Amino acid sequence: MNLLIDQYLASVILIIFIVYSYIYPTSYSYDAIITSKQVEKFERSSPLVNEWLVKSYFPNTILQSIYPNSTIPNSDHDISNRIYWDLQQEYDPRLLPSLWINSILNNLKNDHDHLFNPEISLPFSWNSLLGIDRRLKSIEVGMDLHVLNCEKFAEVFGLDYSEFSKSCISLKGSPRNYPKLKITRPVDDLTYEEGRKIIGLSHLLHEAPIPHRLALLGVGPEQSSLIVPLMGLGRVNAYSKGDLNYLISNYLDNISQTKESPSNITNSIELGIELHNLKSWWESIDQPISYKPSQELKYDLFRAMDCHNAMSMDLKKEEFDIDIEQYINTLQDKVSHSYSMEIINDFDKELLTVMTNNIGLQPNFTKYFNEANCIGSHKGSHYDWRFFKQLRYSEYERKAILHRLTRSWLRFANSVGLSTWLGHGSLLGWYWNGMSLPWDEDLDVQMTLESLYVLARNFNQTLVVDLTDDPDNLNNAMGSYLVDVSSNFFSRDNGNGLNTIDARFIDTNTGFYVDITALGLTNASQCLSSKDKRMKELNQVLDPEFIEKDESKTIESEDLKQSLHVKRDQLVNDRNIFNCRNYHFYTLEDLSPLRKTLFEGVQAYVPNGYKAILEREYTRSSLYSRQHEGHTFRPTLDLWIPSGVCKRDVMGNQCFDSEVLLERKHTMPVTLRHREELNRKRDLTLDVVNIKDTEVLPFRVDPWIIGRCLRLQKLLERF
Ligand SMILES: *[C@@H]1O[C@H](CO)[C@@H](O)[C@H](O)[C@H]1NC(C)=O
Ligand SMILES: *[C@@H]1O[C@H](CO)[C@@H](O)[C@H](O)[C@H]1NC(C)=O
Ligand SMILES: *[C@@H]1O[C@H](CO)[C@@H](O)[C@H](O)[C@H]1NC(C)=O
Ligand SMILES: *[C@@H]1O[C@H](CO)[C@@H](O)[C@H](O)[C@H]1NC(C)=O
Ligand SMILES: *[C@@H]1O[C@H](CO)[C@@H](O)[C@H](O)[C@H]1NC(C)=O
Ligand SMILES: *[C@@H]1O[C@H](CO)[C@@H](O)[C@H](O)[C@H]1NC(C)=O
Repeated sequence: MNLLIDQYLASVILIIFIVYSYIYPTSYSYDAIITSKQVEKFERSSPLVNEWLVKSYFPNTILQSIYPNSTIPNSDHDISNRIYWDLQQEYDPRLLPSLWINSILNNLKNDHDHLFNPEISLPFSWNSLLGIDRRLKSIEVGMDLHVLNCEKFAEVFGLDYSEFSKSCISLKGSPRNYPKLKITRPVDDLTYEEGRKIIGLSHLLHEAPIPHRLALLGVGPEQSSLIVPLMGLGRVNAYSKGDLNYLISNYLDNISQTKESPSNITNSIELGIELHNLKSWWESIDQPISYKPSQELKYDLFRAMDCHNAMSMDLKKEEFDIDIEQYINTLQDKVSHSYSMEIINDFDKELLTVMTNNIGLQPNFTKYFNEANCIGSHKGSHYDWRFFKQLRYSEYERKAILHRLTRSWLRFANSVGLSTWLGHGSLLGWYWNGMSLPWDEDLDVQMTLESLYVLARNFNQTLVVDLTDDPDNLNNAMGSYLVDVSSNFFSRDNGNGLNTIDARFIDTNTGFYVDITALGLTNASQCLSSKDKRMKELNQVLDPEFIEKDESKTIESEDLKQSLHVKRDQLVNDRNIFNCRNYHFYTLEDLSPLRKTLFEGVQAYVPNGYKAILEREYTRSSLYSRQHEGHTFRPTLDLWIPSGVCKRDVMGNQCFDSEVLLERKHTMPVTLRHREELNRKRDLTLDVVNIKDTEVLPFRVDPWIIGRCLRLQKLLERF
């Protein structure tokens, strides 16, 4: 009875809390919500702020552990100190990347024998990367998280304990503010937002593998990308940030501060300076750089990744056609002939293990990618469960997060040389104005099966940080992304429908993701049931005039069916019909040759037959109708604007809404380029040889930097 009352009370408290948090969202939220009002304020902010805005501060707890006998002055009279004390506790996404770059350069300088010492690696913990400690602190459920073991957690968050206990192990103890539990696998049941946050963070802290390697885009010689293997610190001390400690300590050592009597402790680092230093180092090297293609490597090395293996625009049928058994045999061969002992991250061995462990489970694999399903909102399905941060974002925040997610993905794919192109909603967005549709919550891309194998073998569990833009750009290194390839990536079957996504590129800070699906040659077109709703799309692949013929009264439906079958069998015989696991079908001519273009300002590819593809995946009118999802496309602005805003202004030449004008200002460089590109030639082939030179700088400033700038502004005003 007592227990029941307890439970009842707990739910009441939770409900009150949830209602409260709707009304006062910023009172507990981790970052303040950034709207276009704040963006305008940011753009008007004094350039004086920049002196501090570019600095990433070392947490005082870490400085204290390095200099136990010294105190950092806590003076109210010195503005720099004052700012340090106000910001040192705050999470700063640039801190680790700055230290990484610094450590890499120190290592390079130390090694006089060779340019790339394959032994170089960096320490890593999820806690340092994401500031898990600070995030847990910001979760308020009306009690110290320390009291939450698995049972209590289930009770507080309304989960069925017998089900939940399959994913949860209670811990004997935990530091203050850390829950006394670890989440070992995805939790399927719906739960409250705050519970979801704890589930993801606990999993990262205690259970999630650390990424195998880091891909730092654009910071190698000649703007190539650097690959750096990562090493974990072990789970012994999950709570400490040993990696951050080590990196800061090394940084301070290297600027030769004596530990004994530090009169003047350096308490910050600047990403821009570190990037400039590394860049000058590469420029000072006179030996030729050797690039090793990833596919030829047996295991991870510290290296620069070839940025010159530009992918071919002409796709070949073979790229869609991989015989699994043969592939496994080759892997077995390679593994048995390798004399090496236990190498960490042996590419072939790992892939072989994953494939042989999973192939027997065909076609109904357990779900590989899981989302953050929450009570009372559908939005949770747009976030990976591990990296889930919160449900609600302002429209500006969502666009900005997707903007850098998209750019980082495209740059990563380009630097690896993956044969990949925009698909589905992203392709439709590109068609209209070269950007994502404003109501989209993710990015959709497709690739050849061959590229998926490359991604699986060489880049699964790669943490990607995009540093390609100008070192002084404030948007640099604002995010990191995890490449995660499904353990059943080799299958092209829909099976139980739980695994239609082959890989994801996940924003570790928010859980937003890129859905990656591969196209492969299968017999699925012959097996699709005539009642399947995807049949209509397939029929349009077989006959572009299918819709008209089907509706026409003069063509016998039996004749039509017959001719479709003939066409289908012919394509199968020609090995020229490819599909993803959601049974969208494409021929080589639909896709190839790919067309180079810009998307969200960065080099991207779209399929040759994008119009036909969009017409059959959406509707004929998707290319002409200016009304979608409560938005109206205004051609003068080249933007989708909510239909309720400037209602009568269908062209968009008389809209003076401040948000619209701001959006127009930000997006004009991209939309103008897109318009030019579409108008120049019908077939879009660009005469620009190196489209990279025409890439547009990030045009949506990251919400974090805006927040930090506004806080600094306030501090300065008060001083
Ligand atoms: C710090 O102070 C303690 C006691 O005052 C002393 O024993 C210790 O040697 C000092 N450590 C350093 C690094 O100076
Ligand atoms: C400088 O940093 C490198 C790499 O982090 C480290 O190996 C080296 O020991 C450091 N040098 C000094 C003088 O501490
Ligand atoms: C402290 O260090 C900074 C930068 O390294 C320097 O500009 C400043 O003059 C130093 N102050 C003192 C008191 O040594
Ligand atoms: C990718 O890595 C994850 C985590 O280690 C693993 O579960 C998955 O099977 C891997 N996928 C492939 C294709 O190796
Ligand atoms: C796989 O799942 C589908 C859909 O639930 C089902 O129709 C099929 O029988 C299952 N196949 C096997 C081999 O279990
Ligand atoms: C398609 O079916 C034929 C005949 O049943 C078979 O020989 C072939 O291997 C199948 N192809 C694929 C890609 O499954």
